[in-house]
Amino acid sequence: MRTAQEISSNIFLIGENDRRTERFENIFPMPNGITYNSYIIMDEKIALLDTVDRSVSFDFLESLENLLNGREIDYLVINHMEPDHCADIEYLCDKYSNLKVLGNAKTFQLISQFFTKDLSAHFQEVKELEEISLGAHKLRFYMAPMVHWPEVMFTYETTQSILFSADAFGTFGAFSGGVFNDQVDFERDYLQEARRYYANIVGKYGPQVQAILKKVSKNEIKMICPLHGPIWRTNLSYFIEKYNLWSQYIYEEKGVVIAYASMYGNTERAANKMANQLAQAGVKNIHMYDVSKTHTSFIISDIFRFSHLVLAAPTYNMGLYLPMHTLLHDMSVLNVQNKKAAIIANGSWAPAADKIMKQMLGEMKNVELLAEPFVIKSTLKDEQENDFNDLSNLIVSSINE
Ligand code: FEO
Repeated sequence: MRTAQEISSNIFLIGENDRRTERFENIFPMPNGITYNSYIIMDEKIALLDTVDRSVSFDFLESLENLLNGREIDYLVINHMEPDHCADIEYLCDKYSNLKVLGNAKTFQLISQFFTKDLSAHFQEVKELEEISLGAHKLRFYMAPMVHWPEVMFTYETTQSILFSADAFGTFGAFSGGVFNDQVDFERDYLQEARRYYANIVGKYGPQVQAILKKVSKNEIKMICPLHGPIWRTNLSYFIEKYNLWSQYIYEEKGVVIAYASMYGNTERAANKMANQLAQAGVKNIHMYDVSKTHTSFIISDIFRFSHLVLAAPTYNMGLYLPMHTLLHDMSVLNVQNKKAAIIANGSWAPAADKIMKQMLGEMKNVELLAEPFVIKSTLKDEQENDFNDLSNLIVSSINE
């Protein structure tokens, strides 16, 4: 079946939907699926940019061979060597003996590690700003190390000003028909998942994202073609600005994430009371999560989005309740920064959650604790009411600054 779609003159998307795989990297839930996007430029020479995940390889190869209609691929550009884009490299090298695989030294190292067969006869190394002509189309390469993995490159098609951006500007979420940003309601249907994808997959590497944005923005960009999700051909500045904020760890909106952990509901009741008091004081953007129930990736995504954070958790095994520890660990490795935070800690005997949460938040860059941890012993008591009000008032004042 032909599923390739022309997205610009003689440039085609072969984008395969995957609604079956439960978790990306076997970690991140994908309730709306995902796409693996491959692109092909049909010119005097033919260049294929990346392949797909093996879960959709059969359909991909069928679409590819239909489109080729007997012609051979000259170049296979590897912008990213993570296996969700690389299932078919060995097959294509076997099928097209003259195929040149374009990448950098790290790309070829990873190909050699992931594949058993020696494919080195196909390797052709490209350098920063090197150009390759396909005929009417020209490709220029930009190294984008750690914009997810160390070998990542962006490829810029110079005649039509198209940026092939690897994982950057990608999102979770399969196509429901439309493949361009202007064919979908991106804000409604993709933005949350684009943020979750960014924060959890690329979030650690903000400085590297900033570096590549600066490099490629010297060019006019009319279209952005990511490896996952919709292609951008209108209002590019909207999404580029989101990337600018996310990669500088700047919040998008004032608001509070309340992430709580609770064994028997007592810490949860304190978290609910805090949320209610904030709402009564006029705070509208309040987002509550039970860390034992909601996958960390969704909470991290909202932590990137909003300005304030309240963490509430009990002591457990003389330490911190494990799902809260996981959240804080994830915040740390993903380089969460620039937050105002408050802590509610519960402990029935030998409390430790307050100290551990304070220490872990304190190790994050520019995360300001608005007050010392608020400690409850088993349950929040009436005599703590005034102190609890003081804490919620502090949070409200900080939001209204
Ligand atoms: Fe879409 Fe880093 O893989």
